[in-house]
Amino acid sequence: MKILMVCLGNICRSPLAEGILQNKVKQQQLDWWVDSAGTGAYHVGEQPDPRSRAVAQKHGIDINMQRARQFTAADLEKFDFIFAMDRSNYRNILALATTPKQKEKVHLILEFTGAAEQNVPDPYWDDNGFEQVYQMLDKACSRLLKIVEEKVS
Ligand code: 4NP
Repeated sequence: MKILMVCLGNICRSPLAEGILQNKVKQQQLDWWVDSAGTGAYHVGEQPDPRSRAVAQKHGIDINMQRARQFTAADLEKFDFIFAMDRSNYRNILALATTPKQKEKVHLILEFTGAAEQNVPDPYWDDNGFEQVYQMLDKACSRLLKIVEEKVS
């Protein structure tokens, strides 16, 4: 199973989603590949934002080794599931999809949580938003792990 988390910059939200899901996958000893990317190229090659690194660390997750990369059309072939952090990312990913099979792989990450909101808020401009984003992603990753496991078993 190959799973890709996608946001805009690949420095705040999707690196956290990658770290959180990797941690859960490891705990369950699943043989899954989890990665992340950004639809924009502004931060390519950079480490995750220090505030994302700090909130991950606080919860026992190390994301310091991650480096930002840009999402490409090839990711739609390579990965089994692609989770967008918000509707804007979702639209930008779908714009690159060329087959129904590729389109089916793309989901909003909050789709499975039962939450009313569809978007994980971008915490880039809000120092206080990172813990809330962590909690949203932790819940979403627990749910999607279960749902994907059920789908493939
Ligand atoms: P992310 O947050 O998409 O969660 O990584 C952002 C990071 C950088 C920018 C926007 C959002 N930026 O405009 O540079």
